[in-house]
Amino acid sequence: MASLMSAPAAPAVRISATQLLIDNKWVPSESGKTFATINPSTGEEICQIAEADAADVEKAVRAARAAFERGPWRKTMASERGRLLHRLADLIEKHADELAALESLDNGKPVSVAKAVDVAATVGCYRYFAGWADKVQGKTIPIDGDFFCYTRHEAVGVVGQIIPWNFPMLMQAWKLAPALATGNTVVMKPAEQTPLSALRIGELIVEAGFPEGVVNLLPGFGPTAGAAIANHMDVDKVAFTGSTEVGHLIMEAAAKSNLKRVTLELGGKSPNIVFADTNVDEAVEGAHFGLFFNHGQCCCAGSRVFVEQKIYDEFVEKSAARARKRTVGDPFDPKTEQGPQVDQAQFDKVMGYIDSGRAEGARLACGGERVGDRGYFIQPTVFSDVQDNMKIAREEIFGPVMSIIPFKTAGEVVERSNRTTYGLAAAVWTRDIQKAHAIANSLRAGTVWVNCYNVLDTRAPFGGFKQSGIGRELGEYGLQQYTEIKTVTVRL
Ligand code: NAI
Ligand code: MG
Repeated sequence: MASLMSAPAAPAVRISATQLLIDNKWVPSESGKTFATINPSTGEEICQIAEADAADVEKAVRAARAAFERGPWRKTMASERGRLLHRLADLIEKHADELAALESLDNGKPVSVAKAVDVAATVGCYRYFAGWADKVQGKTIPIDGDFFCYTRHEAVGVVGQIIPWNFPMLMQAWKLAPALATGNTVVMKPAEQTPLSALRIGELIVEAGFPEGVVNLLPGFGPTAGAAIANHMDVDKVAFTGSTEVGHLIMEAAAKSNLKRVTLELGGKSPNIVFADTNVDEAVEGAHFGLFFNHGQCCCAGSRVFVEQKIYDEFVEKSAARARKRTVGDPFDPKTEQGPQVDQAQFDKVMGYIDSGRAEGARLACGGERVGDRGYFIQPTVFSDVQDNMKIAREEIFGPVMSIIPFKTAGEVVERSNRTTYGLAAAVWTRDIQKAHAIANSLRAGTVWVNCYNVLDTRAPFGGFKQSGIGRELGEYGLQQYTEIKTVTVRL
C-alpha cells in the first residue's frame, strides 16, 4: 500500500451554512445547542452546527404542512416543479468544485471522486427527476357500469427523510429529487457526521426559488431529531437510509404513531461470485472496486468475494497485490484513492472486525493496520481462507476489508450467497452467458451485476430484498414511492 501521509494541507473551503433551514429561513435550534462536525483526516473540529431536536422537528413539520396544504407549492404546476429542479441542478453544477471540496472535507472521500462521482451523480439525479415532474400520469379504467373511472397520482404529503454520511450529497438527491418532482414537502435530517454539503445545497434550494416550507433541513442526531421525525403524527411518510438496526426502529415508530409510509434502504453483505472461466485480471479489478470504493463504506459493497477453487490462489495473490498498491492518504491530494473512514466510531468498528478475522483464523493476505497516527485511515485489507460462519463473512463491516472465500460448484455458491439476512446486491463474473443469467435469476438481491460492479444509474431502481430494505429508489420505480393513488369514479 502506497501511503501519502504527509500532513494534509488545510484546504481552503468556504463554509456558509451551519444552521437549520426552516420555512426558507436559516435559524438556530430552539435549544440553542450546537455540535461539532469533524474532519476525519485529522479528527479535529471543522465548525459547529446547529443541533435540531424534537422542538425544531415540530416547527419544521408545521412549515412543511402549511406549504403542502396552503402555500404556493400547492399551486405550483408540475412543469414548474421540473423547472425548479433543473435550476437547482444547474446551481449545483456551477458550484461543483466548492461542493466537492466541502464533501471531501466533511466525509474524507478523495476530492477527485467527490467531483467525478458524487457531484456529477447528484446533478444527474436532480435532472432525471426534473424530467419526470410533468410525466407522472394516472390511468382511465373501464369499470363495469356507466361510469368514468380514473386514477390520480398525488403527492403523499409531508415526507420525513433521514440520510446517512457515506454519500451525503447524493443520498440527499436520491431522497429530495423524487419527493419534490411529485409535489411533496420535506423535513430532512442529514447525518450528524456530514451536515455541510446538505446545508450548502439548502442555500442553493432557496436560491433556485423553491417556495418557503417545501424543503426543511434539520442537522442533528438520530435518537433525538431522527426519532422525532419517525414518530411524528403529522409526517405522512418516512424514507430512511442507514443501518438495518435503525431501520427496525423507524418501522416500529411508524407502526406506533400514524402508520406513516416507510421506505428503507439498509445494509448488505453482498456476494461477488467469480468463476474460473472469467478474465481473472478484470475480475480482480472489479472486485477491488466493488469492495474498496468509498473506503468500503457502501451499502452494496461486494464484501463476500466467492472465488472458484481452480483460480482461488491466483485470485488471492492478485487481489492482495492490487490492495497493496491502493493509495491511502490526504483526500485533497489528487493521487489519493482512499481517505479516512468517516469517524472514530466507524474506525473502531472496522478495526474490531479486522481483529475478529484474525482471531477466527482467517489468513491476512495484506493490510490490517491503521495508517498514520491521526485521523481515521485504515490499510486496504484482504483476508483469504474465510469461512461462511466467521463474523467477517456474516456481518456488514462497512470498511476497507475484503473477505475471499473459496467455492466449487455453481449450485453450492448460490445457496451460500443467499444464506444471509441481507439482499441488497450481488455480482457474478463469467464468460458463460447461460450461467450468468441462471445465477442472476437465483440470487435473492435487489441488484445483480454481471461482469461489472457498482454500476448505479439514476434511471435504474436500487433497493433491497429481505432485511436490506423496503421499496426502491431511483428510476420510475423510485418515483412511485412518493405518490398515493387516488381512484375517482364519476357516474355518467
Ligand atoms: P445509522 O443507521 O445509525 O445512521 C443513519 C442515519 O440514521 C443518520 O442520519 C442517523 O442520525 C439516523 N439515526 C440513527 N438512529 C436513529 C433513530 N433512532 N431514529 C431515527 N434516525 C436515526 O448508521 P451509523 O451509526 O452511521 O452507521 C452504523 C452502520 O450502519 C454502519 O457501520 C453501516 O454498517 C450501516 N450504514 C449503512 C448505510 C447504507 O448506506 N445503507 C449508511 C450508513 C451506515
Ligand atoms: Mg464530519
